[in-house]
Amino acid sequence: MKRRIGAVAGLMIILLLGVIVARENVWAAPYISEKTVIMKTGQSHILKMKNAEKVKWSSSDKKVVTVSKKGKVKAKKAGRATITAKVGKKKYKTSITVSDGQTTKLIVYFSETGNTKKAAEKLQKITGADIIRLQPKKAYTKDDLEYNNDDCRANKEQEENKHVAISTSIKNLEQYQEIYLGYSIWWGREPGVIRTFLSKNNLSGKTVMPFCTSGSSGISGSMSDIRELAKGADVKDGMDMTDATEAEMRNWINENILAEEGSETNKKSMVMTIGSIDVPVTWEINKAVEELNELARSGLTISMSGYGGFEQVGSIGANLTEDDREITTSPGDIVLYNGNRLVVFYGSNTWDYTRLGKIDLSKSELTKLLGNGDVTITLNVR
Ligand SMILES: Cc1cc2nc3c(=O)[nH]c(=O)nc-3n(C[C@H](O)[C@H](O)[C@H](O)COP(=O)(O)O)c2cc1C
Repeated sequence: MKRRIGAVAGLMIILLLGVIVARENVWAAPYISEKTVIMKTGQSHILKMKNAEKVKWSSSDKKVVTVSKKGKVKAKKAGRATITAKVGKKKYKTSITVSDGQTTKLIVYFSETGNTKKAAEKLQKITGADIIRLQPKKAYTKDDLEYNNDDCRANKEQEENKHVAISTSIKNLEQYQEIYLGYSIWWGREPGVIRTFLSKNNLSGKTVMPFCTSGSSGISGSMSDIRELAKGADVKDGMDMTDATEAEMRNWINENILAEEGSETNKKSMVMTIGSIDVPVTWEINKAVEELNELARSGLTISMSGYGGFEQVGSIGANLTEDDREITTSPGDIVLYNGNRLVVFYGSNTWDYTRLGKIDLSKSELTKLLGNGDVTITLNVR
């Protein structure tokens, strides 16, 4: 009799627990469907809180995104905002990036200790691309990344070639033609988050520019996986950006993108001649340089005058698109002043300019070329 009562009581406890688990989801921890989302103005996206019933949604900037009581996010204006889902006292956050829909370049990166993030942000400054960070569904702890421990999560994932679940959504992928894909090197290859990103997103017809940071291995060991997983995409040779300068990043883009673009102007490069000497120049990637390139196609001659003992300045004879910032120039800098003047420095000055490029010569070589009276500068495309 006692045993029967015990069995019935046991059964009731199991049933009761079952009901509690089903109703309250007490064992499964709540989580938010995405931690990072990129979308363009006008688009909507529904965020979901899993394993939670009562959720209070809010937006950090309603001008950028609004969120409804049901988690429907609407993109209003280009910018960034955080959506918070409050469950009881706990908060779950999603970072939303809203694109104005103009650029066709996107930087997608995965970075756990910040090195690739830094490289990605430098690249964004150069390219003006939109940018989004890939987040794993389950965040990595410090122990997960302890690669000296054979059994740590990251090592096991690499050994098993895992596709690690991600918590990032790119709603406006069609907008982009050039995808800059950044990651750290884990055991010579790309981390599992990258494998998932590539297999879950259709990059067919797009150009993929892989870049990494690493202790020393470089990017080559990851290239075959990237090429295999980015089905139908034109995957360019990747670049290890550990300690890379902006000039090196620009060269990589010039070699892989601009050199291949259809227009004759871009296949050739713009050459600057001071007097009768061709000088080596690394050009900026911006609207003003594109316009200068157009003018240089039919040959552009600029009469320059020495000024202030640090620069030569001359009229271009046309207005170029300005993107002025206060800059302290250094020898070799080529800038646009007042929208219509070319300035080339052999010394330094602080003023509002738009950068056009840099002559890769020493200060003394530049002083010899520019510091001895007025010069003529010609620009040609060859
Ligand atoms: C699990 C793991 C494995 C790694 N394997 C390599 C490797 O094989 N070769 C290498 O040069 N660096 C390796 N590193 C170092 C990272 O590539 C390097 O620190 C990188 O810059 C980290 O990027 P992040 O700060 O953006 O996460 C490894 C790091 C981790 C956590």
